[in-house]
Amino acid sequence: MTEVLLTRISEPEAWRIDRYKELGGYEALAKALKSMTPEEVAEEVKTSEIRGRGGAGFPTGVKWGFLPDVYPRYLVINADEGEPGTFKDRELIEFDPHQLVEGTIIAAYALKVNWSAIYIRGEMVLGAARLENAVRDAYGAGYLGKNILGTEFDLDIVVHRGAGAYICGEETALLSSLEGQRGEPRLKPPFPAVEGLYAKPTIVNNVETISAVPHIVNKGGAWYASLGTEKSRGTKIFSLSGHVNRPGNYEVELGTTFRSLIDDYGLGVRGGNKLKAVIPGGASSVWFVEEDLDTPLDFDAIAAAGSMLGSGAVIVMDETTCAVRAAARLVKFFSHESCGQCTPCREGCAWMYKILTRIEEGAGRSEDLDLLLSVGSGITPALKTEGRMAMSEVLPYTTICVLGPSAVTAMAAPLRLFREEFEEHIRLGACPKAAGTGITTQDRKASRG
Ligand SMILES: Cc1cc2nc3c(=O)[nH]c(=O)nc-3n(C[C@H](O)[C@H](O)[C@H](O)COP(=O)(O)O)c2cc1C
Repeated sequence: MTEVLLTRISEPEAWRIDRYKELGGYEALAKALKSMTPEEVAEEVKTSEIRGRGGAGFPTGVKWGFLPDVYPRYLVINADEGEPGTFKDRELIEFDPHQLVEGTIIAAYALKVNWSAIYIRGEMVLGAARLENAVRDAYGAGYLGKNILGTEFDLDIVVHRGAGAYICGEETALLSSLEGQRGEPRLKPPFPAVEGLYAKPTIVNNVETISAVPHIVNKGGAWYASLGTEKSRGTKIFSLSGHVNRPGNYEVELGTTFRSLIDDYGLGVRGGNKLKAVIPGGASSVWFVEEDLDTPLDFDAIAAAGSMLGSGAVIVMDETTCAVRAAARLVKFFSHESCGQCTPCREGCAWMYKILTRIEEGAGRSEDLDLLLSVGSGITPALKTEGRMAMSEVLPYTTICVLGPSAVTAMAAPLRLFREEFEEHIRLGACPKAAGTGITTQDRKASRG
């Protein structure tokens, strides 16, 4: 385990400013503001080659370089963390909020920004309280406000609580929500770096990305780039959940394998059961199976294997899992969270959920599987009907953002991996996994509420 961002997590009360400072906190801020120009700080981040930790994996230094010479410009931290199975940002915020605040101040300095917002998911009650306290204490210590540490640099940070909509994690929907509009994604281009908050240049970065900035400044971009693999530098926090013996957040060097994450960190599949599938990078990613487990945790290696690293949420499912039920549950999430702006997503997600539920409840029809794939192809026209699914099939898509395509993946990846299981559901009029367990289709229906 190579911990960089999680080093202070187990330290008692590291969320308090005095404790954070005792543990070396705010040293990077002093170094950046007193001995480096904004350009030098930005250059270190570029040298680190860190790629965004929010899902898309875009190189942070390159994104920062897109800002035109227009002012005011803004820095917005994405702390919405709605992707099912992802819980790393919450832990970073609850247990080490000053790391994020310090990273935000340094990043704002590098980007010549004087106003920044941290958009935090509404449900993160403890996280919001800790973050608000951290920001208040940072003002008190002279790390925020006017003439920070006696320099010419001014910065205000606002903690803005969202209302718990998954779509508000999408950066343009987040910006609309922050402006007080409906949280609906915008067409890109223009990208936020050119036209973002209040139509001004805006950098949106994930909590984990910005939390790495103080370490990059302290130890240098070259040090950070020496960790990980050639195209995926540094460490990354993986949220391991599902049927493992020890779920949790694990920070590892990129390049570690899924097998090591599950066996060495998660202590293997629960009860010694056989593995059925792994969702490798959040609910939007194509499922992996046993033979994929030696794939390194690396943006490009996972893409080459047909899926994506995404937000780093690794969900393990053992042999007792019903693929139909899992698909229905995932698609229900996307259907519920669709903002409704694009017809293919609004209607398509709802129909996919209805059809999957019908199959799961034992009322499936023989034509339902082709129907599901046909509804999916209304959102992602390049979707194939056979063989293992690849993430590349979701391009192009008929919607503004990738929420709809994510629902297609959540339906088509399990359907194409476990088609026989879906067919058996239809043939038996029941879940074969429930046979002999005493669980009836009615019980399942009732458990859904
Ligand atoms: C539907 C949807 C939800 C998203 N949710 C999040 C989220 O909760 N947190 C996050 O950082 N990025 C999320 N993203 C990605 C953001 O749009 C954006 O790429 C990211 O915040 C950029 O930060 P990074 O470059 O540091 O990764 C989401 C994207 C989509 C399409």
